[in-house]
Amino acid sequence: MDNTVFRDISYGMYIIGSRFDNKNVGCVINTLVQITSENPIIAISLNKDNYTNEAIRKTKKFSASIISEKTKPKVISKFGYYTSKEIDKFKDTNYEIIDNIPVVTEDISSYLICDVVDIIDCKTHDIILGRVNITKKQTNNVPMTYKFYHEVIKGTSPKKAPTYIEGAEDKNAVKHQCTICGYIYDDAKEKIRFDDLADDWKCPLCGVGKDKFIKISE
Ligand SMILES: Cc1cc2nc3c(=O)[nH]c(=O)nc-3n(C[C@H](O)[C@H](O)[C@H](O)COP(=O)(O)O)c2cc1C
Repeated sequence: MDNTVFRDISYGMYIIGSRFDNKNVGCVINTLVQITSENPIIAISLNKDNYTNEAIRKTKKFSASIISEKTKPKVISKFGYYTSKEIDKFKDTNYEIIDNIPVVTEDISSYLICDVVDIIDCKTHDIILGRVNITKKQTNNVPMTYKFYHEVIKGTSPKKAPTYIEGAEDKNAVKHQCTICGYIYDDAKEKIRFDDLADDWKCPLCGVGKDKFIKISE
């Protein structure tokens, strides 16, 4: 089977938000599709290990912010590569609480708020069906496509994304080397790309900043 064919399927990019134990939780997804137009229902696919899935199952509500081409790559990597179990992803990102659910509003195109109407078990993932109750066009920013994310932003998808393709993700991964101690940071082996690391990140071997690293491979 030629798995690269799956890359010909078109998607958008979204940040899902929900609330759990008085905590704001959320993650990036690309798998969102409108299912019906009357009493509109959308479907999202969420990995069973994602904390956001657990939150939505409990709260029965979620928001979906439509990421735009102006959304900062750092916001995408924070919501797409870390878990809300460990960090507050909403800190330092503009959001609003609407219908008791956090909604990322920073640089997005639009958002929707949904009530869960059904959950379909798909082994590693759940398909969550949500009836849309609230919609708002936030800006005229162009919605980001999954293709734009890979080809223009040079982003990658983690294994938990339902559309992850073994090998195909590595082509956007590069290596950086510390000019002081020689430590190599290989995007392909890390959770987060070098370019998306926080500005105060330090070399794990010798402790110098990102500015002492040089790119050693494309
Ligand atoms: C571009 C991109 C697309 C993703 N698509 C999905 C998706 O459709 N479904 C999913 O479950 N996870 C997807 N993920 C992975 C989750 O965002 C990631 O596992 C996140 O860390 C889960 O956070 P949580 O534990 O706070 O829920 C995607 C990540 C990226 C970067």
